[in-house]
Amino acid sequence: MKHKDFLSIADLTSAEISKLLDVARQLKIHRHRSADLKGKTLGMIFQKPSTRTAVSFSVGMYELGGYSLPLNARDLQLKRGESMADTARTLSRYLSGIMIRADRHRDIQELAQHASIPVINGLTEKEHPCQVMADLLTVMEAFELHKTKELKDIRVAYVGDGNNMTHSWMLAAGLLGFTLVVSCPEGYDPEKEYIQKASAFGDHVVLERDPQKAVAEASVIYTDVWASMGKEEETDRRKQIFKPYQVNEALVALAKKDAVVMHCLPAHREEEITNAVLEGPQSIVFEQVENRLHIQKAILLHCLK
Ligand code: CP
Ligand code: NVA
Repeated sequence: MKHKDFLSIADLTSAEISKLLDVARQLKIHRHRSADLKGKTLGMIFQKPSTRTAVSFSVGMYELGGYSLPLNARDLQLKRGESMADTARTLSRYLSGIMIRADRHRDIQELAQHASIPVINGLTEKEHPCQVMADLLTVMEAFELHKTKELKDIRVAYVGDGNNMTHSWMLAAGLLGFTLVVSCPEGYDPEKEYIQKASAFGDHVVLERDPQKAVAEASVIYTDVWASMGKEEETDRRKQIFKPYQVNEALVALAKKDAVVMHCLPAHREEEITNAVLEGPQSIVFEQVENRLHIQKAILLHCLK
């Protein structure tokens, strides 16, 4: 049987997503060190910086009895031009699995194609599936939902840049059948490829240019940085263009009374989100942070056990 990669949330069925969320909930309740991954090793390749992904995967492996090895791409022969294919074949001789944060999605696809061990996507420019899994867990907790099918009553508004987070949310909405309203400035919509992929699951993703209309009736307002890693040189230009898409108290007031505000972090306060909202009573950003650990452990068990 082909090993289980996790490159995209669409690598999972809706039943598998439900199962992983259940496992994560159990792991959160019984946060003990188990020996489920005893003797297993995870290499963690970073082509971009990370705080949450790096630490939650590393601690997750430890709590499951395994071992993790952080590998900065700067220090690998990748830096000197060794191919992803040869890196994959080499690491497959030492490790039980690879988690990679990569500059290019096609590179992790190449890595996975040539690896004989599971590969987990720790963020690319196109998708961030581990984050959206943690986010789903956080939404279910916030609204006391027990089954993923109950998510159908939750309307999520994503406001800001149509980026890797947006793409993963779009696929999640398609797979699980909840409504996701995506509101981005013209020219910064999600990629067509993802609009098509999401629409193949049904009409769950709505594009709404007006952020005020987008958040109406929303139970969740989600945002992310305006300039993702690798786009930093566009920061100043984007600050002007994205201004109407800031998640501030006035925008949050247009959503449902019990709406929650989410951000994958790191945040740029007073840009995509105001400090008052990020620190306010509707913000659940540090629940998202914690849930990265619990869902990471479920993902590790799914891929490596
Ligand atoms: N949200 C997230 O992936 O954070 P890091 O970049 O710190 O890993
Ligand atoms: N969209 C952001 C997410 C960071 C976790 C980025 O790619 O930089």
